[in-house]
Amino acid sequence: MILVTGGAGFIGSNFVLDWLAQPDDATPNPEPLINLDALTYAGNLENLAGLKGDARHIFVHGSIGDVDLVTRLLAEHQPRAVINFAAESHVDRSIHGPEDFIQTNIVGTFHLLEAVRSYWQDLDSERKDHFRFLHVSTDEVYGSLAKDDPAFAETNRYEPNSPYSASKAASDHLVRAYHHTYGLPVLTTNCSNNYGPYHFPEKLIPLVIHNALAGKPLPIYGDGQQIRDWLYVKDHCSAIRRVLEAGRVGETYNVGGWNEKPNLDVVHTLCAILDELQPRADGRPYKDQITYVTDRLGHDRRYAINASKIERELGWKPVETFETGIRKTIQWYLEHRGWVQNVTSGAYRQWMDKNYGVNA
Ligand code: NAD
Ligand code: TYD
Repeated sequence: MILVTGGAGFIGSNFVLDWLAQPDDATPNPEPLINLDALTYAGNLENLAGLKGDARHIFVHGSIGDVDLVTRLLAEHQPRAVINFAAESHVDRSIHGPEDFIQTNIVGTFHLLEAVRSYWQDLDSERKDHFRFLHVSTDEVYGSLAKDDPAFAETNRYEPNSPYSASKAASDHLVRAYHHTYGLPVLTTNCSNNYGPYHFPEKLIPLVIHNALAGKPLPIYGDGQQIRDWLYVKDHCSAIRRVLEAGRVGETYNVGGWNEKPNLDVVHTLCAILDELQPRADGRPYKDQITYVTDRLGHDRRYAINASKIERELGWKPVETFETGIRKTIQWYLEHRGWVQNVTSGAYRQWMDKNYGVNA
């Protein structure tokens, strides 16, 4: 049994689906999992509709900040690992309202660590040795790179620039301290920008796909020359499984796909593939919808991940290139117009209430 937090969000739901779907080298016999999620606007149980009735998926509606609830879940289910995805994750929202980021990412992670520490301390010595707390973090904690700087290595200084990245950096420090001080067997992954199925259409890639198909403007912040390093979400999930099974306790692992792209190139690629797969009714190219808008405050110029350590130590490599992953992603969005419609209209909240009786 493992406990996953934030498993109704974008990466968490992909992780849950992949974990239960695939016997592979890393998880030959997938264990059941408890999925603890507060169902904020970003949590969507429709992502997990395929698991309805599957006894291996135990969904619990609640917060990582609820120490009594987490303590009860740990005592009842005795997991061998906790994987912490739960977070507020959108930089723009953190600029407009940082408070939730402090509460969830810092205070919430602290409460989760407290509950896990007291559970772990009472385990017998064999289970104590094998227990893992895996914290899912971001490359944004390292700050922003200049054009010719080398990619982020695990040894880079933390220099977070947004309330989001500062709150994630703080949570990474707490996780590190719980290992150093109490001996909690922790692992941390710092991953670059993900894309793929079930991505909330507030982030660049799903937003552009959705707006293009809806005939709306495709907003480019500033000059569109900011660089992100893109990784297909399922490759991130396989990296997390690999780190969980073989990562060295107390270590951090950078995860990335060696796919640095300026935002404008990403948007042009999305437009070109959409022109091919779902041409506009008027025959015009989707790139006509590109609109330059005011830049994000404090916008980080470039992120790039050096993923050598995870490749060298754990033999992990991404399966998808940007070209294969982005095509799969667009195809998924074209085949799941109803999912996007429910998310953008807010209908997914009623869907969850009807199907799960949870009205967050
Ligand atoms: P997301 O916003 O899509 O999902 C977050 C999930 O956490 C939601 O289901 C939400 O309901 C849940 N949640 C929020 N507060 C909670 C709380 N207090 N208790 C329990 N659940 C709570 O985020 P995501 O993109 O899936 O990111 C998951 C994790 O991966 C985050 O920690 C994020 O920092 C990290 N990360 C994301 C990316 C990316 O590109 N999306 C890249 C690197 C790392
Ligand atoms: P985003 O998907 O929000 O991820 P992050 O800020 O965590 O990297 O944004 C990716 C990049 O795209 C970032 O440089 C901001 C830019 N961007 C736009 O230009 N337009 C948009 O509408 C959005 C949402 C993002």
